[in-house]
Amino acid sequence: MFQQLTRLNPDSILALMAKFRADTSPIKVDLGVGVFRDLSGNTPVLACVRRAEQAVLAAQTTKSYVAAAGRQEFNDAVEAMVLGTTHPARRGRTRTIQTPGGCGALRVGAELIRAAAPATTVHVGDPTWGNHIPLLGSSGIKLERYPYYDSPTHELRFADMLERLEQAAPGEVVLVHACCHNPTGADLDLAQWRQLSELLLRRRLIPFLDLAYQGFGVDLETDAGGVRLVAEQVPEALIAVSYSKNLGLYRERVGALIAIGENENRAGAIMSHMLHIARSIYSMPPDHGAAIAAHIFADAALNTQWLEELAAMRTRITDMRQLLAQQLRRVTGDDSFDFIRTQRGMFSLLGVSTEAVLKLREQHHIYMLGDSRMNLAGVTPDNAGYVAESIAAQRRG
Ligand code: LMR
Repeated sequence: MFQQLTRLNPDSILALMAKFRADTSPIKVDLGVGVFRDLSGNTPVLACVRRAEQAVLAAQTTKSYVAAAGRQEFNDAVEAMVLGTTHPARRGRTRTIQTPGGCGALRVGAELIRAAAPATTVHVGDPTWGNHIPLLGSSGIKLERYPYYDSPTHELRFADMLERLEQAAPGEVVLVHACCHNPTGADLDLAQWRQLSELLLRRRLIPFLDLAYQGFGVDLETDAGGVRLVAEQVPEALIAVSYSKNLGLYRERVGALIAIGENENRAGAIMSHMLHIARSIYSMPPDHGAAIAAHIFADAALNTQWLEELAAMRTRITDMRQLLAQQLRRVTGDDSFDFIRTQRGMFSLLGVSTEAVLKLREQHHIYMLGDSRMNLAGVTPDNAGYVAESIAAQRRG
């Protein structure tokens, strides 16, 4: 039977992680996988997580199952954090399940769309996160691309995006990054979110919003601004949420899928399908990370500590954006990399060729994705000059 299977290429992000690990050079720089790094290059366990974890373990009396929807107190807190406590969509029309990370939420969302409308299309931005296509596509749903960003000019292609979505048929789905776009760092502003939600409503398109970096742009509230605006306008929406980055709970797989239905009755039907899908794929989400997250959300002191730690992660990345742009100005003598300063979140697309990316890896031990996506959290005051000089050397050829 398995003779039929030919070997697949490994996932590009995971393959790059392995290549970086295998590189023994002392000067290597990891700008690849999207994890936060401190000044020493470590991805720390947050102090609030350590404290909450101890409390969770001390209070735990069983490892018995929780539920296919996960922890209710976690789901309630996520809904409030994403939509706000007074959001109109929360009045009976919203249902949330805990999922194994944001990936679990995206996959359950895709299966839900397929169950509701097997022939529909999900429109995905170009470019987008490398795992969006396999995650959604493996459900069997049809995918199409809409233009999002122009790498040579480092600008959003907002008009092209709207023009393309105007052609989408009613009932089709549009996947949009809620903030800190991966891989470009280029987000819609509130006026653009308003225009987009007007289009979604008028064309009867269903938004599927991917919120994986809440708090990495400006703060938790501001970064949810686009999501809240859209959710207020449209009758139906899906929101995939991840706590990998903002709580640093990567390997614990903590996420949620929020579904908004036209009315309470429809929301109940959607919930029954989400539970059925979860049960038929992974049965129940892992509990440990969600228990830690729920504990932090519910405890005022831990919550304050979390917000401080989140702000510190955000500031470190913003500082590195400034520093790298400044170093690139110094070595190139021009402002062509200034766009790095103003983009948001972990990533920017450097905008150099695949060949240059390869040379940066092989000759300078600097690792970024093939499309030149850089994780700015891999930059430090110690390596920024070296990274800038290496980039400039490649640009000179
Ligand atoms: C990334 O984009 O690098 C992260 O979200 C990690 C991953 O799973 O791809």
